[in-house]
Amino acid sequence: MRKPLIAGNWKMYKTPQESLDFLDAFLPRVVRHTRDEIVLFPTMTSLSHVLDATAGSNVTAGAQNMHWLNEGPYTGQTSPTMLASIGCSHVLLGHSELRLYFGETYERVNLKLKAAVAHGFMPVLCVGEQLDERQAGKTEQTLRTQVCTALRNISPTEASNLVIAYEPIWAIGTGSTASPEIAAEAHAIVRHEIGRCCDKSIAETTRILYGGSVKPENISALMQQQDIDGALVGGASLDPASFAKIVQYV
Ligand code: PGA
Repeated sequence: MRKPLIAGNWKMYKTPQESLDFLDAFLPRVVRHTRDEIVLFPTMTSLSHVLDATAGSNVTAGAQNMHWLNEGPYTGQTSPTMLASIGCSHVLLGHSELRLYFGETYERVNLKLKAAVAHGFMPVLCVGEQLDERQAGKTEQTLRTQVCTALRNISPTEASNLVIAYEPIWAIGTGSTASPEIAAEAHAIVRHEIGRCCDKSIAETTRILYGGSVKPENISALMQQQDIDGALVGGASLDPASFAKIVQYV
């Protein structure tokens, strides 16, 4: 019912040429792969190159962030209409690195999410607790607040294309993955919360990805969990062989 989705978040890595070199090596490795949806999130300078090079393939690409307005005096921002104009229809929203280093808030993520659904994009909304929140027993409360704030005034119809990535901040780029059990518990909280503040049947169909130090070695155990519908992969998505192995988990 929920088609698994494996996404690669390239963060601030790869020039356009390096992105195309990646695709030359990666696309042939996954050419017949239909079990999972595959999405890459390259940098803004590589995005149109990656969209063109993946056109007609089983791989697509999206933006790592966007503004909620179509235009305006906002230096450094990219708008939904600008993304749509280059054929982009996927967008990552609320990544913890934006929250930690660039002051992103869930109030703003909510505006971005509204704009994304209004443009018919597939938004991948990131949520996840910090280490001190987990240690203080506040994981559930944190996740519930994040999900509900982001989904405020989003109708079930608008949320039908939504994907959520649960990324515990203490597991991002640290090499220490959440155990499959810890991840599954958090996914269940997120799913329950979608049902509570949006709609129960949407909660059942929403794909919830796990992110945070996903590697070829741990993807299979994570994907065995009932509520884990895919992965958002940072570091291990930069290498074509390693990302292809993750896509082809057993
Ligand atoms: P990581 O990053 O796989 O390098 O931990 C995941 C992410 O930030 O999306």
